[in-house]
Amino acid sequence: MASPPLISETEPWKDLRVHVDDIMKSHLRELMSDADRCQSMMVEFDGMLLDYSRQCATLDTLKKLYNLAGAAHLKEKINRMFNGERINTTENRSVLHIALRAPRDSVLNSDGKNVVPDVWQVLDKIKDFSERVRSGVWIGATGKVLKDVIAIGIGGSFLGPLFVHTALQTDPEATEFASGRQLRFLANVDPIDVARNIAGLNPETTLVVVVSKTFTTAETMLNARTLREWISAALGPQAVSKHMVAVSTNLTLVEKFGIDPNNAFAFWDWVGGRYSVCSAVGVLPLSLQYGFDVVEKFLKGASSIDQHFHSAPFEQNLPVLLGLLSVWNVSFLGYPARAILPYSQALEKFAPHIQQVSMESNGKGVSIDGVPLPYETGEIDFGEPGTNGQHSFYQLIHQGRVIPCDFIGVVKSQQPVYMKGEVVSNHDELMSNFFAQPDALAYGKTPEQLLNENVPHHLITHKTFSGNRPSVSLLLPSLHAYNIGQLLAIYEHRVAVEGFIWGINSFDQWGVELGKSLATRVRTQLHASRKKGEPVEGFNFSTATVLTRYLEASAD
Ligand code: F6P
Repeated sequence: MASPPLISETEPWKDLRVHVDDIMKSHLRELMSDADRCQSMMVEFDGMLLDYSRQCATLDTLKKLYNLAGAAHLKEKINRMFNGERINTTENRSVLHIALRAPRDSVLNSDGKNVVPDVWQVLDKIKDFSERVRSGVWIGATGKVLKDVIAIGIGGSFLGPLFVHTALQTDPEATEFASGRQLRFLANVDPIDVARNIAGLNPETTLVVVVSKTFTTAETMLNARTLREWISAALGPQAVSKHMVAVSTNLTLVEKFGIDPNNAFAFWDWVGGRYSVCSAVGVLPLSLQYGFDVVEKFLKGASSIDQHFHSAPFEQNLPVLLGLLSVWNVSFLGYPARAILPYSQALEKFAPHIQQVSMESNGKGVSIDGVPLPYETGEIDFGEPGTNGQHSFYQLIHQGRVIPCDFIGVVKSQQPVYMKGEVVSNHDELMSNFFAQPDALAYGKTPEQLLNENVPHHLITHKTFSGNRPSVSLLLPSLHAYNIGQLLAIYEHRVAVEGFIWGINSFDQWGVELGKSLATRVRTQLHASRKKGEPVEGFNFSTATVLTRYLEASAD
């Protein structure tokens, strides 16, 4: 059967390509002077305000992007996702992370079965278990309360929970329930990460949560064996059942590893790893740290965006608007990167998480039907909280390459400081930058302005800012568990929208396999060389040379 035409072959795509010339003739300086345009490019939802007026786009661009959404059957694709259809075709799975945060009485089907009751069965089990651990009913092998948790996991089994934990760590509404407890994350197979994680912890008071969807990921399993040894060496092998629990879809392997399946928290193959923070992957460690009630608010926040994404018209739909604008920037204006710039230190792990959600989802070379694409997909995501980033990579963003930016600000700080005699609070100071940077990027500074300021002639070009650099600004009312859930879901769905438009499968990740299998070959060689002194064989000249050097130099 012939594959449907690629989106680049449709009229709306071609129309947008032509439209680029019109947009290139304009400058944000002029576009921003039209207050009606700017007003039309602001959307509010549930106390959040999205301002996308600093996009190199007009209302006409938006109309054309909606046409593109029509040509890509965006609405139908969103509905297929919510209907539990197997839209992850290369893995033959549905994509239902929305079910992880669905209200208890809602219905979301996968293969004709409502999965929401299964979700809530696990959530109830987490609530019960975390309350028992936190209250000291579930205790360690020597009778001590388990006050510290190390969550072992990598990629999607790490980055999302780390982001949420970091965001909650200074939220008084969460920390009031965390007193005396610690949550740490062991991800890297580097033994340094093990050393850092166990430093200062006592196995007697530590609970280890092994988090792995497959329970086969090499790094996670080695780290799990290493910490099992750490516990056994200190407390005896029988202590493992009290000090290690697991989160996985593969309960058979959990049991094989030596963890009682009763102490395992399930999730399902319709949850992609990078979309799993709302499953037991995130909910268990976060509930152990902050209590289930706080985490439930996070789930409710994410769910509110799911409903908005599913039902709001595209013109008002935050993830749809953001996704369409990303496609505009990447595929039409030719800007391949995106900076994620939260003006909140609490969101310092947001960009690393979205980096995986976005780049593992949308960095693809073929369409969902396997047809090589004549256009690039995905964007290069990176970011740091402001104002730190301003003193790092913003120079390039202002005068070097054009990188569309996401500015994320919060009205009420988690930790306000008001100093006597200071009218502008510390948070105001931070937010001054949140408001200034998008305008600096949009307007820039002209040579004429510099001449008027008597800037010496030889410095004029150095001090000129071309401007016309696009950004969006998202202002959140506050940063509690609920808002954090909303922010997460906005970005998750934005990535899906981009993938739906590009016509790719955003839910598989075959690109991570090759490196893994080559590492297995190297591991086998290391074993043979170390154990039996076998020479390095079967590798190209460069790898063989450096590998031999490594083996020789690390022999003693
Ligand atoms: O990096 C590839 C990947 O498969 C991610 O998609 C996933 O989140 C991560 O590895 C960890 O996988 P698992 O949860 O199965 O250990």
